[in-house]
Amino acid sequence: MPPALPRLIARRVPRISLATMETLVVDHPLVAHKLTVLRDVGTDSPTFRRLADELVTLLAYEATRHVRVTEWSVQTPVALAKGVRLAQPCPLVVPILRAGLGMLEGMTRLLPTAEVGFLGMIRNESTLQAETYATRLPDDLSGRQVYVVDPMLATGGTLTAAIQFLFDRGADDVTALCLLAAPEGIAYMDQAFNGSGKPIRLVTAALDERLNEHGYIVPGLGDAGDRLYGVV
Ligand code: URA
Repeated sequence: MPPALPRLIARRVPRISLATMETLVVDHPLVAHKLTVLRDVGTDSPTFRRLADELVTLLAYEATRHVRVTEWSVQTPVALAKGVRLAQPCPLVVPILRAGLGMLEGMTRLLPTAEVGFLGMIRNESTLQAETYATRLPDDLSGRQVYVVDPMLATGGTLTAAIQFLFDRGADDVTALCLLAAPEGIAYMDQAFNGSGKPIRLVTAALDERLNEHGYIVPGLGDAGDRLYGVV
C-alpha cells in the first residue's frame, strides 16, 4: 500500500485582477471576526483601536508576501543553513494621517526594521478631493518598496493622490493596506494608474457594497478616524 498523500488545503484568498492593480481580499475567519466587531456601532474606541491593530497584522502577513529578500546564510548550532533576510533599502511604511496612524503598529510589528514616513491628507468633504497638508518622507524613494496604510478605500481619491506622490519620489513598488474597500474606489484607482507600468497591490479585509451619497462605505464601519481617536 503506498503511503497516503498529504492533503493539500487550498488557500482561500480571492484575487480580483484588474489591469494594473491586484486586489487581495483576505478571506480568513479571524479577519472576518475582528472586522465584524469593528463594524459594530457599539464597539468603543479602545476596543476599536486594539482590534484594528490586530487586524492589520493579519493583513500585513499577506501584504508582505512580495517583500524583497536577499540570500543569507547563518551558522546553526549544527551546520550552516541557507536563509534570507530583508533586502536593502529597507521597506518604507507610510500611514496616511490621521486614520492611518491606527494601522502603523500593526504593520511595524511584522516589519520592525522598516522606516516610517508620514503623509497627511484630508478629504475635502464638499469636493471629496484629497488635499495634502503634511509630508515627512525621504526625498528619494528609488528602489523602495512602500506599504501605504489607510483604513478606508472609499472614493479612491486620497489613496490615489498618496500613491502618485510616492511614485513621483521614485518608489517603484507600492502595496496599500486598507481595512475596507469600496468597488468605486478600486475602479477609480485602477483607472488612475492604468498604463503606469508600476506594480500596485491592494490588500483589504473586505470589499463592501458601495458608497453612499456622503462618500461613506456601505455597510462600512463609519468614520474610521473618529472611531479610532474620537470626533476632534
Ligand atoms: N472614510 C471613512 O472613515 N469612512 C468611510 O466610510 C469613508 C471614508
